[in-house]
Amino acid sequence: MITLLDVSLIKGHATILNGITLTLPPKQIHTIIGPSGAGKTSLLRLINRLEEPTSGTLTYLGQSLSQFPVVGLRRRIALVFQQPVFFTGTVGENIAYPLYLQGRTDNALVRQCLGLVGIPTAWLDRDPQELSAGQRQRVALARTLVKGPEVLMLDEPTANLDPASAGQVEDTVRCLVTEQKLTVLWVTHDMAQARRVGHTTTLLIGGQVMDHRETPAFFTNPASLSLINSHLQEVKTTSKILVQR
Ligand SMILES: Nc1ncnc2c1ncn2[C@@H]1O[C@H](COP(=O)(O)OP(=O)(O)O)[C@@H](O)[C@H]1O
Ligand SMILES: [Mg+2]
Repeated sequence: MITLLDVSLIKGHATILNGITLTLPPKQIHTIIGPSGAGKTSLLRLINRLEEPTSGTLTYLGQSLSQFPVVGLRRRIALVFQQPVFFTGTVGENIAYPLYLQGRTDNALVRQCLGLVGIPTAWLDRDPQELSAGQRQRVALARTLVKGPEVLMLDEPTANLDPASAGQVEDTVRCLVTEQKLTVLWVTHDMAQARRVGHTTTLLIGGQVMDHRETPAFFTNPASLSLINSHLQEVKTTSKILVQR
């Protein structure tokens, strides 16, 4: 459903993405891993048209991304950042904000999206700042869901969360895929998380796809694990544990 064909992104003298070719089927969770600076965020930004490729083609549902009106595209392929920002107001007002921008009011939809992320409707009137980091991330997901996206792109959404809160976000996203038929691109530093949630895993290093395969195959493939060990210093310990399993 999302394809990239020989996509490169060059900024000044820096080659940020280099010859990326990927096919990401629908209704699956695709995890993207790689060291800092590998180009993971840039890849999501390209798919969201926050960047335009220097060369190559990106398509969504068989149609070039450049043919989609940008605002509509960002509604259908929505990006959730690591640290959600809320404006002063209640949880409900924040979730309703994307609708407000479209000139709409739909309290039933706001409640439905809150339910999808497992947050009680009693919290609608609370201040997001009173919530835990994990709860805030789920409110941010609900705010994205009111736009009715088909694809969710998550950029290290659990990087600042404790393991229990990260687990809740993982469960929420898994449910969205099985019940709402969403497609998810999930950038993560956490190898164990990539292994838990992914249907496919892509290893990006230096702007290039070094490996891409179904997640169970990825994490049992000695060549993939060896690449992780030699390139991802910050997760070396985790991947060693994975290798030993
Ligand atoms: N606008 C830009 N101009 C020049 N270099 C950039 C720009 N944006 C990102 N980069 C560089 O591109 C590389 C990839 O960045 P990024 O996509 O944020 O990586 P990641 O998310 O994997 O950490 C980094 O080396 C970063 O410094
Ligand atoms: Mg990043």
